[in-house]
Amino acid sequence: MDREKLKRLKGQSALVTGSSSGIGKAIAMALAREGACVVINYHSDEKSALEVVKEIKATGGDAIAVGADVSKEADVKRMFGQMFEAFGTIDILVNNAGMQKDAPFLEMTLDDWEKVIGVNLTGQFLSAREAAKEFIRRGIKKEISVAAGKIIFISSVHEVIPWAGHVNYAASKGGVTLLMKSIAQELAPHKIRINSIAPGAIKTSINKSVWSDPESAKKLQELIPYGRIGDPEDIAKAAVWLASDDSDYVHGETLIVDGGMTLYPGFKENG
Ligand code: BGC
Repeated sequence: MDREKLKRLKGQSALVTGSSSGIGKAIAMALAREGACVVINYHSDEKSALEVVKEIKATGGDAIAVGADVSKEADVKRMFGQMFEAFGTIDILVNNAGMQKDAPFLEMTLDDWEKVIGVNLTGQFLSAREAAKEFIRRGIKKEISVAAGKIIFISSVHEVIPWAGHVNYAASKGGVTLLMKSIAQELAPHKIRINSIAPGAIKTSINKSVWSDPESAKKLQELIPYGRIGDPEDIAKAAVWLASDDSDYVHGETLIVDGGMTLYPGFKENG
């Protein structure tokens, strides 16, 4: 069997924001394994981003690292410019960069609010807009995909589950839902395919304080009917599918990947 021919994203170029670690890194590596050239975007950790590039190149893929704060319009435009210089165009955008700045509501500062909304929501808007402009300019390249471009928003189960002590984060993810769906409605005639993935509790640095402490890890596990905390790979596999033509008729949808967290297991013997 010709492994090269089986690669689902061969000839495509992808940008994964916030991909120097965690879910973004796993997605970037998975897209590269399927044949895509990948931009590893990072905010401050250039060293880790370069490591990801090295790992991708070591397995025969192609990648570059580009630093940019996705909440800043000028940074985002420069990042896309650097990507076009290196790879010519964009076929897949994964809007992954995200952060938490947790605080009880009464103690939450305007800065906590603005930083999280800036990265998690404005950042996704800015990158989606730049990608969409290029998808429309270029149009469909039939040899590589039946769509003119694909955007995947990385949301969270907290686009539906309210989260005390994290209202900035939950509000940003709730915003991502209708940002994604509204853009999907608007850009469908251009054959741009847009979806979200809503991960549950995935083992990354964002929630390390929870899964690395046995007591809180046990409590967290009680929220997950499937009985395990997720792995970045669980999200990466879903992202590859959404980026590929295998999901061509899936549009404007949120794929929840959470081991059943949104089944609200607290209601099993209650309510
Ligand atoms: C958050 C994690 C949390 C998970 C489940 C994610 O979106 O970033 O900190 O563990 O949702 O609550």
